[in-house]
Amino acid sequence: MGFAVSINGRVGSPEDVTLKVTDNGFVFGDSAYETLRTYGGRPFELDRHLRRLRRSIGLLGFELGTSDDEIKARIDSCLSFAGNAESYLRVIVSRGVGDMSYRFERIPEPTIAMYAKPLEPSSEALYQKGAAASIVSIRRNPVEALNPAIKASNLLNNALATREAYAKGAFEAILLNTRDEVAEGAGSNVFIVKNGILLTPPLSCGLLAGITRELVIEIAAAIGVPFEERVLHADDLRTADELFITSTLKELAPMVTLDGTPIGPGVPGPVTKALLSAYRARI
Ligand code: PDD
Repeated sequence: MGFAVSINGRVGSPEDVTLKVTDNGFVFGDSAYETLRTYGGRPFELDRHLRRLRRSIGLLGFELGTSDDEIKARIDSCLSFAGNAESYLRVIVSRGVGDMSYRFERIPEPTIAMYAKPLEPSSEALYQKGAAASIVSIRRNPVEALNPAIKASNLLNNALATREAYAKGAFEAILLNTRDEVAEGAGSNVFIVKNGILLTPPLSCGLLAGITRELVIEIAAAIGVPFEERVLHADDLRTADELFITSTLKELAPMVTLDGTPIGPGVPGPVTKALLSAYRARI
């Protein structure tokens, strides 16, 4: 079980393959990333992740400049150097090495970094018993400020929200936008079930277009769960029959309390369970 780093195609251990301190990713948080995980040793939904990575970078105003085939080859080398049965994989692309100024035209090329480590999957207890969520006081960055659609490595908004949730003993922070609408979790998207209908906020509420979110919407259609994108408020979450979060690492994780109040009967609900088992079947 091991750790591997790849920077611009050079693969090795984290001690040997390192970044320059003048990299814009470090200096300005000027980078975008994707978190992937493997199943059976292969990265899951890689094409969707690469598409979103290109979208994020485009919104930051630079280009990857490397083909998907080349990125995939580098991912393979990184995963095989790490040599894990299952890996956590992060791909981070920064604007590149600059000179600590905003003169970005001086930057010759982006930095394409990858990091693989042994996957630490969530415990089965999370799926069987559920966990606690909390609506935190920190608001999600407004679309007009730092668009949450960009999977940017500047994660202070998410980190401060998570810190607040952890201090309250919650597993995940849920953030509202500045219009008091539910946006997303600090590291996840949010779904509820109300009167048999699966609901999630539309992208216009200011959130990341999660790949697991996308898959859950497709799976709901396939197994006949009625679905709608709808603007949700804190009260919709509190009075939901079921609440769950989605992410690459957590899959579909039931949230059975919200700020200490049980959601429905306070146990993972039937729609959440049906979607999770269909999701796992798809994997
Ligand atoms: N986070 N929203 C935010 C803010 C996220 O950070 C994530 C994922 C998601 C869910 O996206 P996806 O289903 O594509 O994983 C939504 C990853 C896991 C991370 O930051 O490591």
